[in-house]
Amino acid sequence: MSKAILPLVAAAALAAAEPATLTVHVDRDGATISPTLFGIFFEEINRGGDGGLYAEMVENRSFEDDAHHPVSWSGLGRERLVLDRDRPINPRNPTALRIDLGPTGGGVANVGFRGAGAGGAGVPWETKPQPMTAGLAIRKGAVYRLSLHVRGGNGFGGALTARLEGRTGAILATAAINGIDTDWKKQELELVATEGDQTARLVLEATGGGSVWIDMVSLFPQETWKGHGLRMDLAEMVAGMKPRFVRFPGGCFVEGDRLANAVRWKDTIGPVEERVGNWCIWGYRTTGGFGAHEFLQWCEDLGAEPLYVINCGMAHADHVPMERMQEWVQDALDLIEYARGPVDSKWGAMRAKAGHPAPFRLNHLQIGNENGGPIYHERYALFHDAIKAKHPDIKLVACVWGGVPTNRPLDIIDEHYYNTPRFFRERADMYDSYDRGGSKVYVGEYAVTQQCGLGNADAALGEAAYMTGLERNADHVVMASYAPLFVNPTWRRWNPNAIVFDQGRCYGTPSYHVQALFANHVGDVVCPSELALPPSAGDMPAGGISLGTWLTQAEYRDVRVERAGTVLFDSSRDRGLKPWRRHGGDWSEVDGALRQTSDKENLLIATGDAGWGPEYTLTLKARKLGGKEGFIIGFQLADDREHHWLNLGGWGNAQHGLEGIGEVKKVDGRIEDNRWYDIRIELKGQEVVCSLDGREILRQAQKPARSLFAVASRTKDGRELILKVVNTGAQAMETAIAITGAKSLQPSGKGWSILAGHPADENTFERPRNVAAAAIPVTGVAPRFVRSFPARSVTVLRLGMER
Ligand code: AHR
Repeated sequence: MSKAILPLVAAAALAAAEPATLTVHVDRDGATISPTLFGIFFEEINRGGDGGLYAEMVENRSFEDDAHHPVSWSGLGRERLVLDRDRPINPRNPTALRIDLGPTGGGVANVGFRGAGAGGAGVPWETKPQPMTAGLAIRKGAVYRLSLHVRGGNGFGGALTARLEGRTGAILATAAINGIDTDWKKQELELVATEGDQTARLVLEATGGGSVWIDMVSLFPQETWKGHGLRMDLAEMVAGMKPRFVRFPGGCFVEGDRLANAVRWKDTIGPVEERVGNWCIWGYRTTGGFGAHEFLQWCEDLGAEPLYVINCGMAHADHVPMERMQEWVQDALDLIEYARGPVDSKWGAMRAKAGHPAPFRLNHLQIGNENGGPIYHERYALFHDAIKAKHPDIKLVACVWGGVPTNRPLDIIDEHYYNTPRFFRERADMYDSYDRGGSKVYVGEYAVTQQCGLGNADAALGEAAYMTGLERNADHVVMASYAPLFVNPTWRRWNPNAIVFDQGRCYGTPSYHVQALFANHVGDVVCPSELALPPSAGDMPAGGISLGTWLTQAEYRDVRVERAGTVLFDSSRDRGLKPWRRHGGDWSEVDGALRQTSDKENLLIATGDAGWGPEYTLTLKARKLGGKEGFIIGFQLADDREHHWLNLGGWGNAQHGLEGIGEVKKVDGRIEDNRWYDIRIELKGQEVVCSLDGREILRQAQKPARSLFAVASRTKDGRELILKVVNTGAQAMETAIAITGAKSLQPSGKGWSILAGHPADENTFERPRNVAAAAIPVTGVAPRFVRSFPARSVTVLRLGMER
């Protein structure tokens, strides 16, 4: 979407002449806000842990990533590199690298976590490469700790040196590795960088002949967050989100594609060289370095509640038979003991050995991720009974995939939502009417994942609107976390994410800034409020068109889109398939018609964009060639794949219907084979009028989307009112604010606002704070005052008061 279309997008907003009104009752109490409301979900995805937050700089440090090649390592040119499984450093780390030196020596280099190329087959963001040069980000003056296991043989009698080398070959730091003999020895040394370079490499070079074996080659900056092994800048970004809990370590990562790749926490504790990494479902091997202990420590350092997600004996493609589940249930009990058992217990002693004799906090445990059905329910019951019997205080989080388990009482259920900005705006009130009697809710994963670019302002605004509802209902929605947290763009397997990073830089997407703003300004008790919008306020849907089929072959011609005398599209001018974006199907141009011949579901081509606005008339001819249904014609599409369409001959060729505008409106009707139909869709004001062969068949009104959202809360002591107002619309909203029940109000307060010029605005490495929170002046506060909330903004006002 280009910025040039801004005036047209703005035209999609209807003018709001009268102000909105927001009445806040500070003398009444709404929900008591859960102290764990806003947290984070860390998943090992997109290189978020290994190669990300976990400060290890060497990729494939233990040579276990690939059985055939020492991936990420390259030779210096005079040697032969061999993956060697004779005499491993320990049985859990079976592979080492043997460097057969040439007569003049040789060596290896590692450039850190290389990119794997953005996206994967068929993911839309694949087309947006984010070029980055791999390398180690070395800071001038910083100290780096190198450790490795090394031995020599086959006549090796030379010397081995380690160095950090800049892109042009300049030596940034160097140190000798002495005392190499024929037995494995762990060597530890410091490299002090005399210069900086963002694309450096680690080089290990030997002189003389013979062979050198190396394993567990690890390079860490000396300075890590709170001294606990996390990359400073990324950990600071997370701390800026003020998370009250951390869900860890996934997601689908926990499940694994198969059980063989499921996360087992016991493989992630103890000396790092004895940890067994696993193949991560998101396309790379993990080291287990960022394991259960590091997670608990991280939570302690953040002052956040840990929420560990334990595999429930189910992977995506297989599951543990019930008779072997005991081992998996025991894993959960042992994890609890590791976290909070006494130092003389088996697992508590392991924790103490790892440097933390005092118990960690652990009050929550999630049983599985996105698991469901009878297989999950019977396994959930096993975990529930065993854990509750020993640790009745632990709150269990259950999955509700495909139905809520009913065989055991549930503490908290985990709901996940990924959708469009509109979806989230429309659900800002969804928890207002939730049954309070049932289990509490954890919205464990939510994010706008459509119409979101690589993380744009519109996505963040949709999420902010939705979050006002989470906060208003935070007695019932006790936890919520945006997902996912991190992405290295060259390893992007999910889009979008909160924090974007490369080896040396990072920034937050607009969603990150919304998360941080909400979590940094949350009160203790909700103040009930009423928000009334003038009837004309809000945005109409706006955008392009699509031509599609469902289990049907069909062709389209004479496609024309006209807005007030301007031709936006004309297939006799905009010829062939070139102007169309394809989303499945076998499309070709035959005698001037656009023909689709596959018999699969939901195949379409689309054209146009938000610049077309909400009002236009689409006319076309369509002919069915075969198959089960008729034609699907999309309109006002912000996203090509949105189900906002006229479905002719849908529902098994029995009905015509308008879908995507509130309740589906249908009339009986069918589409015959081999007959050209004239179709017309007129979008005018708030109405959609559809005609077939000159006869009106469907007419439906669509309301402008609500564009203003608010929530108010107060601190426990009643001395501060925190107002959050989200304006997702394209125009500023004058709002008459009435604060009732306060004995006094301070005339000025504090405020922050996130502002976006355009829905498609994003942050980048070059413009990291293009859409970010900034302080705003707050004056003129009174029991009744008027404030204008700018178009596309999220505002927080903190007002001093006495109640
Ligand atoms: O957040 C990304 C993925 O989305 C998680 O792994 C999974 O739980 C969900 O499907």
